[in-house]
Amino acid sequence: VESLVIAGGRRLAGQVVASGAKNAALPLIAATLLTEETCLLERVPNIRDVATMIRVVRALGCEVKWEEEHTLRLRSGPFLACQPPDELVREMRASVQVVGPLLARFGTATITTPGGCALGPRPINLHIQGLRAMGAQVDEDGPVLQFRANRLHGADILLDYPSVGATENLMMAACLSNGRTFIRNAAREPEIADLQSLLNQMGARVRGAGTDVVRVDGVSRLHGAGHAVIPDRIEIGTYLAAAALTRGDVRVAEVIPQHCEAVLAKLAALGVEVSRGECTVRVKAEGRLRGTTIRALPYPGFPTDLQPQFTALACVAEGISFVHEEVFSSRFKHVEELVRMGAAIQIEGRVAVVQGVEYLTGTTIHAPDLRAGAALVLAALGARGESVVEGAHHLDRGYEDLAGKLTSLGAEVKVVPLAGERRSTTRVTA
Ligand code: EPZ
Repeated sequence: VESLVIAGGRRLAGQVVASGAKNAALPLIAATLLTEETCLLERVPNIRDVATMIRVVRALGCEVKWEEEHTLRLRSGPFLACQPPDELVREMRASVQVVGPLLARFGTATITTPGGCALGPRPINLHIQGLRAMGAQVDEDGPVLQFRANRLHGADILLDYPSVGATENLMMAACLSNGRTFIRNAAREPEIADLQSLLNQMGARVRGAGTDVVRVDGVSRLHGAGHAVIPDRIEIGTYLAAAALTRGDVRVAEVIPQHCEAVLAKLAALGVEVSRGECTVRVKAEGRLRGTTIRALPYPGFPTDLQPQFTALACVAEGISFVHEEVFSSRFKHVEELVRMGAAIQIEGRVAVVQGVEYLTGTTIHAPDLRAGAALVLAALGARGESVVEGAHHLDRGYEDLAGKLTSLGAEVKVVPLAGERRSTTRVTA
């Protein structure tokens, strides 16, 4: 387990380059299981969740290798095992995305459902319902889910909730099914459109990604393809938030500004100056931030994956801010740690009421998960004094070279391996 030692109060300035999107790369890797031919993915971020997904598909029998720093070459070949290892599924829920491709190509898939996580229960009922509608037989034996289908057929599916993972899994399953499939109330995240782009380059016939109805006409087989992953809008929003919090001036390059509209609007509402280029976005922050309302919603609403980071901004903004988390049932694990730094936050169900304070004070804080960890890093960057962010390994899941990129912007961040030192399990809370 690593810690990040962060000296607060440094103004961030300069430019960083966005990496490829974690939440696009993971389903794209799963999609390559749909063909036995070779696929090439560029701009793949070098992060822990990608390494885990590579272990998942390798365990199924795929050949995967890094061609260059951010280019993956994948070949699944004619036969694959159809059960990802339990410990990998437990480590990363996104492993469930291999079910659609395996079921479509081999007619079988087995997975041990991942438990809940720091964000609350993470059911996959919408994935199951959709696959059943396409003719799959799904037997639940405790945590073990057995999927079987001779040949999936087209279906008209209406999702109760615009689930990103369910939309992706069903799109991939439908590509090799018999007939036409509609996925209604589909998720509209940019990562869905990125997946559609790779699938169609592989010979699939997918239309409508980015709208709430995705239509797929099944084909008999798919071939290899190449594709460059879209930039990571959550990573981008995290660096822009760091600029806002430290009253800095940061430009992020290799961005698709159109994927960041809700985030850019919220930054402007917080009182910072936002400017955009063709594929860059810049934030220039002078004085104190202004409190605002943040409502985490499915895309194109404000992204839940940036709710913790923007809650950290609200902690030192002027006035009261209201943070509504509408996507996950318990995504306020960062609040307790922010309060230990001096924040004034009251949680009422799915709403966090934040009374802005002048400044936060550095201390030892613990990252409970990836995005809560990012929120604590931001809080530490803006705080007075030094902070130690424990549990930094969570950050490695979704941020490529976080310490390096922050340091290049003028932050003082040190990675400290907690060699030997035992963290007391019962932390004294202030
Ligand atoms: C994806 O998770 C992302 N992960 C998450 O990012 C992101 O927070 C989430 O979408 C929402 O944008 C990847 O893409 C790998 P959902 P996913 O299915 O697909 C409920 C990060 O930090 N639900 O849209 O799991 C679910 O419980 C991660 O990068 C069901 O009830 O999200 C949740 O409340 C965190 N039944 C809501 O829908 C289902 O079958 C959103 O889940 C599926 C989901």
